[in-house]
Order: sequence, then C-alpha cells, then structure tokens
Amino acid sequence: MRSQGEGVIILLVEDNPAHAEAVKCAFQDSGRKTKLEVAGSLREYHERVAAQAPDIAIMDLNLPDGYAIEALSSQPGDRPFPILLMTAYGDELVAVEAMKAGAIDYVVKSSEAFAVMPRTVERALREWHLLQERKRAEKNLLETNQRLSQAITATIQVLSMTVEARDPYTAGHQRRTTILAEAIAGEMGFPPEKIEGLRMAGKIHDIGKISVPSEILNKPAKLTPAEHDLVKEHAQKGYEILKEVKSPWPLAEIVYQHHERMNGSGYPRGLKGDEILVEARILAVSDTVEAMASHRPYRPAPGVEAALEEIDKSKGVLYDSDVAAACLKLFREKGFIFEA
Ligand SMILES: [Fe+2]
Repeated sequence: MRSQGEGVIILLVEDNPAHAEAVKCAFQDSGRKTKLEVAGSLREYHERVAAQAPDIAIMDLNLPDGYAIEALSSQPGDRPFPILLMTAYGDELVAVEAMKAGAIDYVVKSSEAFAVMPRTVERALREWHLLQERKRAEKNLLETNQRLSQAITATIQVLSMTVEARDPYTAGHQRRTTILAEAIAGEMGFPPEKIEGLRMAGKIHDIGKISVPSEILNKPAKLTPAEHDLVKEHAQKGYEILKEVKSPWPLAEIVYQHHERMNGSGYPRGLKGDEILVEARILAVSDTVEAMASHRPYRPAPGVEAALEEIDKSKGVLYDSDVAAACLKLFREKGFIFEA
C-alpha cells in the first residue's frame, strides 16, 4: 500500500453527488490521511484504475452504466485491491452475490453508514492485508512442498538405481511393479497424492535387498531355506533404510509391509487385514503378479495367466479382495500388459 506520502488512496465510485459528498465529508472529519477520488460510472472507474490502482475502491452497486459486480468479475484472480460495496436498502441479495464474486465487504447505504465509512474502510483494509498474507503463506508452503517432493523423487530415483545395479534380475521389477500398482490404485479411485506416495514406495520397495549378498540374489538355483530367510530380511532392512526419510507419505512403513498377507501368513510381522496399509496390500498383489510374469535366475516365468489365477484363487485370503478385483479387471477387461 502506498500510504506513506499521500495516505490511503480511495476510489469512490458513486453517481449520486449527495452520497459521494457524505462519504467525502466523513473522511475529512475523521482526520485520517487519505486521498479520495470520485468516479461517477463504471467506465470512469476502469479509466482511473488503469491510470493508478487505488488501495481500495468503494463502489455503489448500481451505477449508470452497469453493476459494480462487473468490476469484480473484471479483476484478475489475485485481486490488486479490495472492493467495498455500497447497496441501497433492499439490494442485500445482490450484495450477497457480490460477496461471492469477491467483494471484501458491503454496507447498506444510510447517513450512519456514510459517517462510519472511514472505520469500515480501515477494517476492510486490515482484513484485506490479512488475506494477502495468508495467500502468500499458502503459496510459499506450496512451493516448499513442491521442492521437497522434487528432492524426495530424486532420492528415490537414486536409491532404486542402486538396488537395480546390484541385482540385474530385479532390474525393471520395481519399475513394472510400480506401474501396475499405480494402475490398480487408479482403478480403485485413489486420489492423486496417494497414488504419488504409492509410486515412490513402489520404486524402492526392494531397497532392502542392498543388504542381501549378490551371490544369493543372483544365484541360478533354488535358494536354501537359510538363504531364503536372508532374502526375506529385505522388508525390514528397507524399513530401516527409509525410516528417516522425511516425506508426505509413509514410505518406510509401506516397504516394511509389502510381503504381509491378509490372513497374517506374511512377513516380517505377520500383520493381518486392515493392519496392513492399503498401499502395501496393492504392492503385495502387483509384486506377486510381476514376479510371476518374469524369469528368475533359478526358474522360468510361470507367466501372467498363472499369476492372475493365483491372485484370483487367493483373494480374500492372502490378497485384499478389492485390490485383487481391480488387478484382475485391469488385465482381463482393460487390456493391461507389462512393458518389457
Ligand atoms: Fe520384496
């Protein structure tokens, strides 16, 4: 607000000279430092605003060449100054519309209302500045969140490349698992921000394999029970790696839970049903389907059809029924296929 030198600049848009005079007198009597200009029509209002935006406009609702509400709708989204409306008695309904259109406040014309206009304007300006501050704070928060999200995305990318570089047989597994998981979540109507978290978790759900010796990960034969136990530790190790990563999503917990099963037969904690995050229940299905669709060092790929049969057969027991249904629908009705 350029109020230091010349005071608050007020543009009064009023075609009734008596009303304009009453408002002018109120400001003169108040002793406040203001510069008050009067426009008698919408056209004149636009000309004056184009020459110099005021700190606030006080507008009569009903002007010779239109309604003040038109001035509100012609203001850009982030309004450069507030507009205070004056209405005649009985015009309140229109005033409500004007408030919805973005007027800062409205007063019903009367000699009392004219007399207290300086205080009304002061209050409107205070409210306006608070509103601007809040908008600025919201914008800053949004930008901070975007930067944080970009930083997390980059971190996740590096982590996922690290695990895939060590384990060529899993190269692409996390990527394809994630694409299917996202599609399932979309099919289930998840909001975009939840899908974003699932995508992040999916891309690194096997990060804990970093702690499994590569001879075991790349062993071209069936694993011994002891070796298998070592591989199973990857869920917990993944949790430990990720638990300090600050993010808007429960990434560490999703990774921790991606081998849990609905009936409690999974690992590492034997969680059941709703104890398992829905993101982890989705990953459980997409992980299983992708793994069965792919070759492993120790076995050929059972194939997608076998994977879907397994999901169908074990839905409600090992896999969440809704997740299983969404997955089956994607493959059987919507033509989902894994890319190479
Ligand atoms: Fe895994």
